[in-house]
Amino acid sequence: MSETSVNQRKVAMIGCGFVGSATAFALMESGLFSEMVLIDADKNRAEGEALDISHGLPFARPMKIYAGDYDDIVDAAIIIVTAGANQKPDETRLDLVQKNVGIFKSIIPEIAKRNCGGILLIVSNPVDILTYTALKLSGFPENRVLGSGTVLDTARLKYNLGEHLNVDSRSVHAFIIGEHGDSELAAWSSATVSGVPINTFCEMRGHFNHDEATERIAENVKNSAYEIIAKKKATYFGVAMAVRRICEAIIRDEKSILPVSNLMHGEFGISDISLSMPAIVGAHGVENRIPITLDEEETEKLQSSAGTLKKIIEEVL
Ligand SMILES: NC(=O)c1ccc[n+]([C@@H]2O[C@H](COP(=O)([O-])OP(=O)(O)OC[C@H]3O[C@@H](n4cnc5c(N)ncnc54)[C@H](O)[C@@H]3O)[C@@H](O)[C@H]2O)c1
Repeated sequence: MSETSVNQRKVAMIGCGFVGSATAFALMESGLFSEMVLIDADKNRAEGEALDISHGLPFARPMKIYAGDYDDIVDAAIIIVTAGANQKPDETRLDLVQKNVGIFKSIIPEIAKRNCGGILLIVSNPVDILTYTALKLSGFPENRVLGSGTVLDTARLKYNLGEHLNVDSRSVHAFIIGEHGDSELAAWSSATVSGVPINTFCEMRGHFNHDEATERIAENVKNSAYEIIAKKKATYFGVAMAVRRICEAIIRDEKSILPVSNLMHGEFGISDISLSMPAIVGAHGVENRIPITLDEEETEKLQSSAGTLKKIIEEVL
């Protein structure tokens, strides 16, 4: 059976908890789509969110938002998966792996057997493991399966650097790469503020203790989710904006460079694993990976991050 052609104005959301509903709200506000179908194991939840978000439409743009089932997603241009358990206080993202791989074994075949032609965008954690799981279980071409990866972590890095340097965070060009989780790393050696190397810009702003500052900021970024979860039980607004940004790049065929989770093919000696590496994202999903310049220490950290993920994949898949 051939793939169903897609409606570029339609998005599907599987999982309507904190992350799914916040993302659905962000997408409604974005004006990118004219149809959004919400699916959740708890049908009442999906129906409630569809009603609640629809009531904002008179303040936004016309759109059809409804709770549905898998038959409603076949022509969606993007199928976002946020279903699954979330991190509990003191739980790592990787602790979630068994639970959420199990949930994906029920969700992804439902998508695959309908020959959906859209792009699968995975958000549930551990996102790299689940992106790889979705790729294997769906049989989709790899450009059409990506994870939100470190798009959120990179936004946190830019935000923190913007605060530290008193500059617009959008002028900061720096990436968090690797696992979306404890083994992620900041690619400092390629970081700039609008082309000015990060350390030079720091000095222009009166900061000279680079090692202390970069270590503190990278730790802050890595621990953001733990801090927010300890304070408010879940994180969802930041990731909702990150997912909206990825959808924008796809639907508008922007060819933006975003650190999404995608399959590696020997870059830095890493292969057959999904992790975050900046990639060109457009209408076809992941178009090209951009292996940025890393120094020796960063390369080792990236390889170790990949090793952590590979071990888990071998255990669960
Ligand atoms: N990638 C990121 O940057 C990022 C950031 C925050 C959270 N997350 C992850 O997103 C996921 C969701 O988090 P949350 O806070 O919304 O959790 P939540 O518990 O609020 O929502 C999860 C939803 O999934 C639904 N669900 C469970 N099994 C399902 C199935 N088989 N089919 C359909 N729906 C199903 C549940 O009914 C629930 O509504 C978690 O894995 C969390 O760790 C990812």
